[in-house]
Amino acid sequence: LLGLTTIGGIMAIATITGCRQRPVPPKETPPVTVVAPAPVVSKETVRIQRETEARESSGLVAGRIAEARRAFVADEDDKAIVELDLETNTVARSTPIDARPRDLLLLADGTLAATLPDTNAIAVFAREVDGGLREVRRVKTPVEPMAMALSPDDTELFVSTGVSHSLVRLSASALEERGRWSLGREPRGVLVSDDGKRVFVSHATDTVVSVVQLAQSEGEVLRRDIGHRQFCITTLGDEPGCFPQRHARNAQMLVRLGSEVIVPAAQVMPNPPSSPLSGASGYGIGSESGGAPITMDLATLDAGEGADIKTRGMHNVTTCLLPRAAVVVDGRVIVACLGSSRIEQYGAPAKSSFTAAAFLAATQVGGGPTALAAERDGASVLVWSSFARQLARVATSIKPERAKALTKHVDLRPRLARLPSVKIGVPHVVTREPAWLRGRELFFANEDPRISRDNRACASCHVDGRDDGLTWQTPMGPRRTRVLAGQLDAAPYGWRGEHSTLEDHVKVTFRQLQGTGLPSSEVEALLTYVRSLPKPPRPTQAEEARGKELFAAAECGNCHGGNAGDRTVHDVGTGAAFMTPTLAGIGMRRELMHDGRYANLDDLIAKSKAMGTGSSLSAEDRHALVGYLETL
Ligand code: HEC
Ligand code: HEC
Repeated sequence: LLGLTTIGGIMAIATITGCRQRPVPPKETPPVTVVAPAPVVSKETVRIQRETEARESSGLVAGRIAEARRAFVADEDDKAIVELDLETNTVARSTPIDARPRDLLLLADGTLAATLPDTNAIAVFAREVDGGLREVRRVKTPVEPMAMALSPDDTELFVSTGVSHSLVRLSASALEERGRWSLGREPRGVLVSDDGKRVFVSHATDTVVSVVQLAQSEGEVLRRDIGHRQFCITTLGDEPGCFPQRHARNAQMLVRLGSEVIVPAAQVMPNPPSSPLSGASGYGIGSESGGAPITMDLATLDAGEGADIKTRGMHNVTTCLLPRAAVVVDGRVIVACLGSSRIEQYGAPAKSSFTAAAFLAATQVGGGPTALAAERDGASVLVWSSFARQLARVATSIKPERAKALTKHVDLRPRLARLPSVKIGVPHVVTREPAWLRGRELFFANEDPRISRDNRACASCHVDGRDDGLTWQTPMGPRRTRVLAGQLDAAPYGWRGEHSTLEDHVKVTFRQLQGTGLPSSEVEALLTYVRSLPKPPRPTQAEEARGKELFAAAECGNCHGGNAGDRTVHDVGTGAAFMTPTLAGIGMRRELMHDGRYANLDDLIAKSKAMGTGSSLSAEDRHALVGYLETL
């Protein structure tokens, strides 16, 4: 037992910082193959010229067609790419496609690339002379392609993939695969350094930024910590008491600012079990003095030439709690705050210290801002509000004296700047149910006191409808966040299976978050959305034959059969009867069981005496079983 504990300990340390990971090609997915060669050209096409130097993808890109200013929006709801005319402020065309596009990127040859997470592909479109987009290329990628970035010379395209947690390197012209790396959980934003030597990848559920070193023959992956590792409380006259802090980061994107990479990252932090604040009430709210366990930081990493990449600082912001997109304009970082329907501007964070970022201005925009694009002159920024289906062009200039005055009010709720803006509505083609649309707004709502007292949203813990990987202190004991997407078809709910309906469960959630509660029509809308969240796509399983056999032989399938398990509580020696959790994505978890008691699968199988016959397996068989579990 001692030996295994040590292994757990080493594994835990290794995830913290500076450790090097070998590139392990994810074995589940066949190599990228070109599936749709260019069809016969029927109509002439035109190049879409890039508006700025940006090489990173976004849900929105600005471009020019023969000097006419255009914007292209990835319309996930309607399965379309929408072209907007920025001269007349109208919708020029909506081209339906067969999948939900997430991110777009203009390639050097004037074509438009799109990630299609729901079909595991990247498609490239050419703009026809008389409007409309024609697909000219499509390649399969590992499961759930999310974001893209081009190398500085435009010859290579890097793609992050979500549940299959990898970075793929492709030639930008033919989309042929040139390399692949396995990263931590839920990769999101991608950025290539100006010297083209490394690729930075942010994660939606991790505490690190992955840095892929391209120059090295084996392409090593460094992990740079952007989380808080300590939690300190001071009471008047006392020395601060500090406790080790478990944490998660939701970093959807990163941006380049001079020689630095800025990572806007939300964080929710459970009070550590050893802290006097834990257990006081639900989901980590300790006391007034303990502060809200939620922040957003602009983490700053050195992206310069040097061999060493350091995290320079964490610059605290308390108003933008679900940062979803960012751009840099004139040395200022502009962030789209999904849960508060604002864009916020920050001055470049000071290099040296862990200070608050200089808050400059905030502008209210339509609901659900998910993408930003800078315009060529830097005087305005385009904002796509995906819930309101609205493109706004917002002036970004702030008078220098105002900028100076505002930097003093760093921690205040942002005063909204009345900056001029133009709005273009994009009508729905495929209409969603009104309850679903309302439910989505509620799920991401950051500043609704009916949901939480400290501005947390459901999406703060259930990141993208999945989970933050964290264990929270609750009055019932420690509880790890459960995955929602694709798991809620059958009752009961909660780790103890104590709630026979979702309504009963969320009533308790509001109490835990000290929200005043929603009226039943709003609860119904919220649950309509939550129930509809699709099951995250899974990598196609390699036939890990031995492991699969052992899974059946050791009786694991008796309870863990199917996607959501048997939806029944069992006492498997963890203190009481708990619900069988899904094993989907289990290989990427760092905390296992309802209370996070095991740090890895080997330890769990060896020590857990009441789950099938796992604990009696030999070390070799355990290894094979772990190999199989990692493919789920
Ligand atoms: C502080 C983090 C946090 C926030 C915020 C949060 N949850 Fe949860 N959620 C959890 C944890 C932890 C569990 C497991 C709780 C348990 O079993 O007691 C959970 C469980 C659930 C479940 C049960 C899933 C299952 O398979 O049994 C649902 C449904 C759910 N949450 C919905 C929501 C909704 C809707 C909101 C917003 C109103 C929300 N949660 C906000 C942490 C959070
Ligand atoms: C009797 C039903 C049952 C059997 C049989 C069973 N499990 Fe479990 N399993 C559970 C329950 C219940 C939990 C949650 C316990 C808790 O959180 O306290 C769980 C949790 C787990 C977890 C952690 C999941 C998470 O999200 O933290 C893993 C991994 C796991 N089981 C693997 C296995 C394997 C491998 C086997 C076969 C050797 C197996 N289980 C057999 C019921 C079972």
